[in-house]
Order: sequence, then structure tokens, then C-alpha cells
Amino acid sequence: MALPPAVGAAAFAVQAHVHAGGSLRRPASPPAAALRLGPLFWPWEKVKVGPLSVSPMGFGTWAWGNQLLWGYQESMDSELQECFNLALRNGINLFDTADSYGTGKLNGQSERLLGKFIREYEGPIKSPDDVVIATKFAAYPWRLTSGQFVSACKSSLERLQLDRLGIGQLHWSTANYAPLQERALWDGLVEMYDKGLVRAVGVSNYGPKQLLKIHSYLASKGVPLSSAQVQFSLLSMGDEQMELKAVCDSLGIRLIAYSPLGLGMLTGKYDSSNLPNGPRSVLFRQILPGLESLLTCLRSIAEKKGKTMSQVAINWCICKGAIPIPGVKTVRHVEENLGALGWRLSPAEISELESTAMAAPKKMIQNVFQTA
Ligand SMILES: NC(=O)c1ccc[n+]([C@@H]2O[C@H](COP(=O)([O-])OP(=O)(O)OC[C@H]3O[C@@H](n4cnc5c(N)ncnc54)[C@H](OP(=O)(O)O)[C@@H]3O)[C@@H](O)[C@H]2O)c1
Repeated sequence: MALPPAVGAAAFAVQAHVHAGGSLRRPASPPAAALRLGPLFWPWEKVKVGPLSVSPMGFGTWAWGNQLLWGYQESMDSELQECFNLALRNGINLFDTADSYGTGKLNGQSERLLGKFIREYEGPIKSPDDVVIATKFAAYPWRLTSGQFVSACKSSLERLQLDRLGIGQLHWSTANYAPLQERALWDGLVEMYDKGLVRAVGVSNYGPKQLLKIHSYLASKGVPLSSAQVQFSLLSMGDEQMELKAVCDSLGIRLIAYSPLGLGMLTGKYDSSNLPNGPRSVLFRQILPGLESLLTCLRSIAEKKGKTMSQVAINWCICKGAIPIPGVKTVRHVEENLGALGWRLSPAEISELESTAMAAPKKMIQNVFQTA
């Protein structure tokens, strides 16, 4: 059977590398033998997001330009470009970004880098489905009219050097603190869709109640709501997330799972004596001590399946019907996370992970902008 065009030899190599003894070391040269006889996913395993067809996993680019939380330096750009190229070569066509990504004078850097990487990509990019950029427009307090929101969209398009976006997402709802502003933002989404600036419209950090409201408002204007992005992982799988998933399913909205690795806590590489630099350490110090059983469970399932903990955590999101968008900063992250595709956890493994996760004393804190 012919391979999907975008899924090349690297897909096989990645699987082989990641499988090799569960080793996290980067091989000196590409592995020769493949253990998995097939691509990471077949064309028919692509996922519909409104009119778009995307890979079962995308990649997140919050770190690309963020010095404060993620330690970004411009010297990382060539590796980030390699990350993008490797992902695309392996059929990953969904990249999540936001107009607020990038700290200080680097604001917009994530979109700018994506724009540059798309331009400089050496392989074929023939159709708009080949690279789907999902950006998010911040609900800044000074964005008070629909026109200002459309201008924000145009600025993103400029940074991305694109005529049209894949998914234009409202980054958060203002319902909790500025309900009057929200209608203007919704109208902004309608306008950008009607003007053809975005192929699909999505929201982020919306809870089930607010999601129902925006869905019906947009529907009344003839605009389909295609995606809802929310924190969703083994550390963030409470009633709110499950209710949101059910609402999404009933309305045909695709759930995009952000922070699927719990900001790195589910990778297994951190513990109380080995914390990341920067503000994440404060959060990790609070949460990690309560995660022993969950991390042990993840590790044991990973070992049994010849996978890594990150791959199991990402695969769990896929098994729940979400599109995970793990954040990546290095080629190593991309290689390993690609290995989350092409297999499935069994129902017994899923329920073991979930019951252990539910018993964990601490969960991830929810985004301050998350609504009911
Ligand atoms: N809509 C929203 O409000 C919102 C909020 C948050 C995120 N997001 C989106 O979701 C994306 C993903 O979420 P996230 O970046 O917050 O968290 P995440 O995906 O849970 O964690 C990403 C971090 O984990 C580490 N990592 C990734 N893969 C790894 C691997 N295979 N092995 C070891 N470490 C690995 C890296 O950091 P270290 O190496 O430094 O540990 C990476 O930056 C973001 O990039 C962004 O696009 C959206």
C-alpha cells in the first residue's frame, strides 16, 4: 500500500528510535531499522475540524519567543525550524500559536517564526490543508469593537505571512469580568470568517455553558464553531473537562487539548529535586509530590508498551477523542512526541491511568480565564 505523501521515511525512523529500549538519547545517526511497519497515521486517520483535515496531534508553540516561562533565546531558532520541518515531514499539519505569544519585545515571535518556517520549508506545501495554523487572538481590554478584533487577525496574518488562517480562535472569554466586551469579540470572529480571513473559527478556555452560548450566537450568524481548546490531560480531566467534551461531541466541535504533558510534569523527567528553571518550579514544587502514583503508573504502562511516559500521556488524550498539541522546543521533543502516534492504549490501561489520576491529591490549576 502506498504511503501517505507527507508521511515519509522519518516516520519509520522515529518509531524505531523511540522504541529502542525506551531510550531518550538522540541517536548519532538516523536508526536504520524500523520496528513499526507503517506510517504514524494513515490519511483516513486525519481528524476533521470544521472544513479542515488535521493530523491526530498538532504541536504547540507557546515557548517560541517566551523567555520568562520557557527560557527562549533567539539562538534556538534554527532548532525550532528543524522542529517545524521534522513535524511537517512526518505529516503533522496543525500548529497552535497566539498573538500574545512572545514576551516583551518578542511579542508575536511565535507567529513570526512560524511564518518564516513556512516560507523557508523546502518540501512541497501545495494546499492550505498542508499546514494548518491555529492562532489565538487575545481578548485584551483595548479590543473593544469587532473591527479591532479583525485588525488583530490581520496583524497575525502579516506576522505569519499568510492570506488566510486555518483556525482563528478567541483566546479566552471575558464573561467573568467584562461580559459586555464579549459580544464585540464574537462579532469580530463572525466578521473575520465572513471576510474569508479564517477558514474555521474556534474558542479557547471556554467552559460548557459559555460554549453553548457562543455556539448558538455564531450559528445565528451562519458561522460554524469548529474547535474548543482547553487544558486537557491526565492532570486536568475533572468533571468540567468531561462535560465540555460531551458538549463538544454533541455539537460537532473538536476538542483541542492544551498542556497535554502538564507543562512537562507528565514527562517523568522532573521531581522535587530536579525542577525546571523559572516560574514553573513554583507550581511543580506544589504538585509533583502528589503525583508519585500517577507517574509510577505512567512509567509502568510505558515500559510495558515500549513507549515513553510522554508518549503515553499524549496517547491518552488521543484515546479520549481530543487533538493534543504538546509544546515542543527541541528536535528531541518532536521525535519523541511523534512516537505518540500509530498505536492506542487499551481500555484497561486507560481506566488504570484515569483511576490513578483521579486519586492524585493535586491536579493542575485551571487557567484564570477559564469560564463555566
Ligand atoms: N489556549 C491556552 O490558553 C493555552 C494555554 C497553554 C498552552 N496552550 C497551547 O498548548 C501547547 C502545549 O501546552 P504547554 O506548552 O503549555 O504544555 P505541555 O505540552 O504540557 O508541555 C510542554 C513542555 O514539556 C516539555 N516537553 C515536551 N515534550 C517533551 C518530551 N517528549 N520529553 C520531555 N519533555 C518534553 C517541554 O518543556 P521543558 O523541556 O522545558 O520541560 C515543553 O515545552 C502550547 O505550546 C500552546 O500552543 C494554550
